[in-house]
Amino acid sequence: VKIPMLNLPRQHQALGANLYNTVQKVIAEGHFLPNYFGENPITPFEERLSSYCRRKYAVGVGSGTAALQIALLAGGVKPGDEVITVPNSFFASTEQIIQVGAHPIFVDINPDTHLIDLDAVDEAIGPKTRAILPVHLYGNVVDIEALQSILNRRRLENIIIIEDCAHAAGARLRNCPVPIGPIGVFSFNPIKNIGGLSDAGAIVTDINAVAGNARLLRNHGREDKNSHVVVGFNSRLNCLNDCVLTIKMDYLDQWNEKRREIAIRYNQAFENLPGVVPIKPQADVSHVYHQYVICVRERDARKRHLKEAGIDTGIHYPSLIPEQPAFKVFDYNINSLSTAVRLNPQILSIPCYPELTNSEIEWIINKIREF
Ligand SMILES: Cc1ncc(COP(=O)(O)O)c(C=O)c1O
Repeated sequence: VKIPMLNLPRQHQALGANLYNTVQKVIAEGHFLPNYFGENPITPFEERLSSYCRRKYAVGVGSGTAALQIALLAGGVKPGDEVITVPNSFFASTEQIIQVGAHPIFVDINPDTHLIDLDAVDEAIGPKTRAILPVHLYGNVVDIEALQSILNRRRLENIIIIEDCAHAAGARLRNCPVPIGPIGVFSFNPIKNIGGLSDAGAIVTDINAVAGNARLLRNHGREDKNSHVVVGFNSRLNCLNDCVLTIKMDYLDQWNEKRREIAIRYNQAFENLPGVVPIKPQADVSHVYHQYVICVRERDARKRHLKEAGIDTGIHYPSLIPEQPAFKVFDYNINSLSTAVRLNPQILSIPCYPELTNSEIEWIINKIREF
């Protein structure tokens, strides 16, 4: 038995000729970078993504990391501003706050969902707060409506919410697809629920000025071919990824449904299993299980036990961001992050993706029970 954390060859085999012919066509035509100043400045995937998210604009960029950076800049975050975020995410979400010259303010997480704790956000908001960057971690959804209500109640119109949707393509809160608030960023790197053939990302928004700034920033600040009106980046979503992602969009909902079915089986199997606590599903969220995460005692021994049975597992993520070596210079005090600190050594991600077979799922369940 050999069960990896992801099986893209199986996914691509199932997509078959549709995928391979499209890739061949792009290569044959030799058109690899979008022409944003041509007849069709909006690419097929941007069109597809914005309508899927029921939003006015989707701006394709080179990665989820670039999407974060460009969204922060386009959203008006300036050097010296504070941005409230979580310590239990991939490094990029905080890294890009620092890259734009702002200061990350970490708040603790909810012990049931592992998502940003909204009461902690309420407490952390100060005069320098310019943005809040919640992460829809593992494909679960932060209650952005409740977060927006906190800002509205305190009349903080100047603070913008930027949702990190990297794990959550297709996830819904009360039937509304993410992003729920004004700006969301996606990663479409190959391992995501919908992934390209290499790094790719996008910014989704209803705000015209944010979309316009993002379009400038991703393409050297260019307004047309030879006029650079701001200093930007080289961060386009290339044509190969655009075509592949457009094809994969047709499958996103059914793939996510399959992930949910597997998660339900896991939840039932682990319900009364001592020492294994799955993250609690939320009633009003359609979770997309980018990762299926359990909290366990003796995590490392468990991980080894599964490995010996041919099952790969993951840890998302092994260290809290403020504990990373790069953060030593900031001398960050993690005392206020007690839930995140307590849960971090317990988290374990197990395989959960549409291409898993029934017998693989049973094998995983049995081996977790066996431990
Ligand atoms: C939560 C989160 N945010 C942002 C990113 C960055 O995305 P990318 O790898 O496309 O740059 C990732 C990527 O893995 C992620 O998991």
